[in-house]
Amino acid sequence: MSSRKKLVIGNWKMNFSVRQATSYAGKLAGKQIPVGVTVGIAPQALALSEISTILQKTGLKLAAQNGFYKDEGAFTGEVSMTMLRGISQYVLVGHSERRHILRESNDFIREKNAAAFRNGIIPVFCVGETLTERHNYHTNQVLSDQISLGLADLTAEEVSKTVIAYEPVWAIGTGEQAGPEDVQHAVEKIRTEVTQLYGEAAGSAVTILYGGSVTKDNAGSYLMTPGLDGLLVGGASLSVQTFWPIVEAAGESVPKKITVNKKER
Ligand code: PGA
Repeated sequence: MSSRKKLVIGNWKMNFSVRQATSYAGKLAGKQIPVGVTVGIAPQALALSEISTILQKTGLKLAAQNGFYKDEGAFTGEVSMTMLRGISQYVLVGHSERRHILRESNDFIREKNAAAFRNGIIPVFCVGETLTERHNYHTNQVLSDQISLGLADLTAEEVSKTVIAYEPVWAIGTGEQAGPEDVQHAVEKIRTEVTQLYGEAAGSAVTILYGGSVTKDNAGSYLMTPGLDGLLVGGASLSVQTFWPIVEAAGESVPKKITVNKKER
């Protein structure tokens, strides 16, 4: 797993006007992406279309922060995954801010994961326990429930392409940092759960990210977690100065291939 590509996604949340978002995306578009790293950004919905044009031919990926589970119809105010098709490659599903502030249920999230695949978009499916659940030693149960319910409509092949982000709710936007052992434990739990439900191949192929108060100073240590494939970054993704060093840390965590010079053989 450590030899795989690393994925870093910046979740801009409800920040930046369209003009600010496109200008920032333009700055990122000029950056050299480290070998072995996939970088994505998740701007506000109104900026997605314009930014998708800016990112063409750059290698940077685009993620929507949300998408509805029905493809079209009488759902005032919603943007469907069908509308995101061809614009964003990823979509965040089940982010804790939507689970808690907007009361999104596991059922709703399950339908969104299915809608994403139906429309050719990879879901970045977020799971994680609250502080109370952690204090009550319910972390394993919460992860297991969120995973089994959230992925229930997917095939094993789809699950193997899914990105699961472990985001302990108590560490999001709080400056509270999960310890390496918390992250390691969650990564193992997630892989075991996926393996039990969808088989070995899906369990080892599923991409697992960590998110929660990631900064340029702690990114390197999280990236050393065995089985972790990358990071979902909120606050620190809001400027080039704080985001790009995290992308570079991901590049440094990718093992360098030993290239054998043919003449020396
Ligand atoms: P944070 O947010 O890095 O600001 O804690 C992470 C997230 O919500 O994805």
